[in-house]
Amino acid sequence: MTTPKIALIIGSTRDARWADEPANWLLEQAKTRDDFEVELVDLKDFDLPLFNEAASNLWAPSTDPKAIAWQQKIAEFDGYIWLTAEYNHSMPAAMKNAMDQAYNEWVKKPVTAFGYGSMGAVRSVEHLRQIAVELQMVPIRSALHLGGADFFQAHPIAGGAGIAAVEDNLKPSAQGMFDDLVWWANATKAAREEEAQAKAA
Ligand SMILES: Cc1cc2nc3c(=O)[nH]c(=O)nc-3n(C[C@H](O)[C@H](O)[C@H](O)COP(=O)(O)O)c2cc1C
Repeated sequence: MTTPKIALIIGSTRDARWADEPANWLLEQAKTRDDFEVELVDLKDFDLPLFNEAASNLWAPSTDPKAIAWQQKIAEFDGYIWLTAEYNHSMPAAMKNAMDQAYNEWVKKPVTAFGYGSMGAVRSVEHLRQIAVELQMVPIRSALHLGGADFFQAHPIAGGAGIAAVEDNLKPSAQGMFDDLVWWANATKAAREEEAQAKAA
C-alpha cells in the first residue's frame, strides 16, 4: 500500500489572516516525516460560494463548478488536518461552508486540526469533531493547539514573536498528532480499498 496523502487545509480566508504562519510552520514539520505525503490546500484558492445546492452530494450531485472543483481536490486525500482559528467560539464560517460543500469525499477518512487562539481554538476543534461524525469521518483524539501565553507571544496582535519563539512547546504534540493521523489514514485507506475491491468483484 502506498503512503497516505494528507491535506493541510487553511480554514481562514480573510485577507488579513495570520493563518499562513502556523500553516507554513506545520507544513515544515510534516515534511520531516516519510510515512505520509502532505499538501497545503488553501481554501482561499477555491473561492467557494455559500452553499446553494439542492442537497449535499450524498443525495444529489453538486452543480456549482467551484463546489465540484473543491470536491475533486478533497477526494485526492486519505486524511485531513484543518488549520483553524476560532471566530466567536467556533470555526471560521468559510471553513464550515467548505465542509458542507462536499460529503462523499470526506467519508471514512480521519481528520484532526491545528487550532490557534487564546484558548488554542479548542471550541472550534470540538465543533469540527461533531461535524466530522455527521460526515462519517474519524475525528481523532490528537490535535495541536497554540493557545494561552504562547499564542499571545507568537501572534502579531500582542508579542508578534512568531511561531519559532514557541515551537519547542508545539513540536512533540505535532509529532504525536501525525503518528495518530497516519495510523488512522492507513487503517481507513486499507479498509476503503478492500471494500472497493469487493464491490468490483
Ligand atoms: C470575527 C472574529 C472572532 C474572533 N473570535 C475569537 C474567539 O472566539 N476566540 C479566540 O481565541 N480568538 C478570536 N478571535 C481572534 C483570532 O484568534 C485572531 O484574529 C486570529 O488571528 C484569527 O485567525 P486568522 O488571522 O488566521 O483569520 C476572533 C477574530 C475574529 C476576526
